Amino acid sequence: MLSVENLQAAYGSTQVLFDVGLQIGEGEVVTLLGRNGMGKTTTVRSIMGACRVMGGDIRFTGRAITGAVPEAVARLGVGLVPEGRQVFPTLTVRENLVATAANRLKRSDPWTLERVYTLFPRLKERANQSAGTLSGGEQQMLVIGRALMTNPKLLILDEATEGLAPVIRTEIWQCVARLKREGQSILLIDKNIGILKRLADRHHILEKGRTVWTGTGADLARDAEAVERYVGI
Ligand SMILES: Nc1ncnc2c1ncn2[C@@H]1O[C@H](COP(=O)(O)OP(=O)(O)OP(=O)(O)O)[C@@H](O)[C@H]1O
Ligand SMILES: [Mg+2]
Repeated sequence: MLSVENLQAAYGSTQVLFDVGLQIGEGEVVTLLGRNGMGKTTTVRSIMGACRVMGGDIRFTGRAITGAVPEAVARLGVGLVPEGRQVFPTLTVRENLVATAANRLKRSDPWTLERVYTLFPRLKERANQSAGTLSGGEQQMLVIGRALMTNPKLLILDEATEGLAPVIRTEIWQCVARLKREGQSILLIDKNIGILKRLADRHHILEKGRTVWTGTGADLARDAEAVERYVGI
């Protein structure tokens, strides 16, 4: 589904990614791990066409998308939930959900408002409330729902549960598990390794702009040293 090889990227003249590789198969949940500032968000931005890519190869469903513009990447079926819960604050919950909704790939069972409300019942209760007045957790649910309404082949969650209360985190993880059961391919970024080990099929660890470790959850559980070295605090 997605293949990234030897990715290099920069902000202005400062190179930040040197050699990032990652693979996501159809229906897989795959993570990008690493401490703060190691290049996870920059990798996501590079995939989305929102960052200056200097070299390497990004392929999505077999097509080269290296250097493509964000609209084109979205059109091909990549849906992003960016860091920082970027709702449209003055629009209502329902308006946020329908604002960018699309079924460009003509899925036979597209996401609908009702399906999103089933996934996150709180959003239904707040359908007519302006999004800027929601709690942080509700905003994160809304942004996930909004991304799903674009019917993405690949859903990317950057900092899925950062700064959220434990009970809300649990809800987000239940949502991810449910999406996985339904066959949704997901690229997940989060610092909660304990949960990710169980939830995801494979992991990639970034260190200073390089992929330094890849493996399954079982590999990760076995290789405590790598986890400590690259992800421990
Ligand atoms: N807009 C920007 N301009 C210049 N440098 C940037 C910019 N955004 C990020 N960087 C730098 O690029 C490096 C990688 O940042 P990035 O945001 O990709 O890390 P991250 O792994 O997502 O970190 P975090 O876990 O804190 O979200 C950091 O050194 C950061 O300071
Ligand atoms: Mg980040």
